[in-house]
Amino acid sequence: MFLLARIEHNLLYHFAKRVRWKQIRFYSKKRAIILGIETSCDDTGCAIINTDGKILGEALNSQHLVHLNHGGIIPTIAQGLHRRNIENVVNEAMSAANLAFEDIDAIATTVKPGLPLSLLIGMKYGKHLCRKYKKPFIPIHHMEAHALTARLYDKTIEFPFLVLLISGGHCLVAIAQKLDKFLLLGESVDDAPGEAFDKMARRMKLKNLPEYSQLSGGQAIELAASKADNPLAYKFTIPLKHYKNCNFSFSGIKNQLKLQLIKEERMKEVAADGVIPGVNNMCAGFQIVITRHICHRVQRGMEYAELKGLIPPDKKTLVVSGGVACNNFISKGLQIVCDELEYKMVRPPPKLCTDNGVMIAWNGVERWKENIGIYTDFEDIEIEKSSPLGESLIEDVEKSGISCNWVKLTKLNFPQ
Ligand code: KG4
Ligand code: ZN
Repeated sequence: MFLLARIEHNLLYHFAKRVRWKQIRFYSKKRAIILGIETSCDDTGCAIINTDGKILGEALNSQHLVHLNHGGIIPTIAQGLHRRNIENVVNEAMSAANLAFEDIDAIATTVKPGLPLSLLIGMKYGKHLCRKYKKPFIPIHHMEAHALTARLYDKTIEFPFLVLLISGGHCLVAIAQKLDKFLLLGESVDDAPGEAFDKMARRMKLKNLPEYSQLSGGQAIELAASKADNPLAYKFTIPLKHYKNCNFSFSGIKNQLKLQLIKEERMKEVAADGVIPGVNNMCAGFQIVITRHICHRVQRGMEYAELKGLIPPDKKTLVVSGGVACNNFISKGLQIVCDELEYKMVRPPPKLCTDNGVMIAWNGVERWKENIGIYTDFEDIEIEKSSPLGESLIEDVEKSGISCNWVKLTKLNFPQ
């Protein structure tokens, strides 16, 4: 039976190749094994997953500490490190899975959006493996992969669901209607939240304190904020409060912090590489305003989805992913909003929220099962620096003019 299925699969595969269909359009019930490659930013990741969602092998090389010492990601350095590590990372994942490339059915690789120099390395290597072992190529949208990882972690999540993606490079709220159909409700008009965390942690010189020296900006600010004795000592205004859309903005919050920091540094005569005495309170205030802002935008997204009947009442699920989703304070705020609006909240573990190869392989599995976007003739597929996720409903959200009665975040234990 298995042999017959395999012969049928191979015949169809070669037929599809011979007639030069750009995408394989046959339906295969065969169980498959997909290898995924991620290099869109500063992590070189690879994983091998089967169609049951079992992770057979994975490997990750993080460039985090290198970039921390450079005060941010330098694209040429990131590219050099991806180039140096990609083969080892893929081989490590393959050995962990105890598989040969002949056992792999397709290779999924992030091709958009991301840093072009980084994306290029993964795409070239993924295509090279496809050519060498005669495998189909599955190009992956990095944000789609972040959104779908939740379905690997919690297999009960069905389409449609609401998704909030918050990371170092991205920020959006969307409805995932099906695998390849997203409705974009809001996105950042300037920075991503992770970028704001990273830049402000640097500006507050947190890295100069040993306990924060190895942490990402977001992790450092979350830890410092947890030690605050007066979280409202520094005041921040919530951005876009009067805009009836779901867009995000973080540059204003950054400027508010910078101005208060400069004032404080002058007043307390802090040395050039020093940290202000009230840094924990400043981090707490910053984290609170970011949490409130994100909660507002998500709440309006939920109310818009309800108004337009986009998510059935019995399927109300919010998926939260991306590196910033690792923040427990933000997550608690979102949980309060979910409880109030009767949403189930799903946040994959930190390892799956930050960039990794598993999410790319899993996206490949989802595409394989649906026979969508699997290419045998893949030479023309290019990387894309930016790429919107789905159809934009941003204007329609604004036109709907929804006034929200904001859910109070009192359980977060700071005065409202
Ligand atoms: O998803 P990710 O690994 O890479 C991108 O696609 O950007 O996210 C990395 C970002 C960094 O900006 C980092 O500061 C942020 O996620 N991050 C956090 C936390 N942990 C990581 N932000 C806030 N709180 C955290 N605990
Ligand atoms: Zn990411």
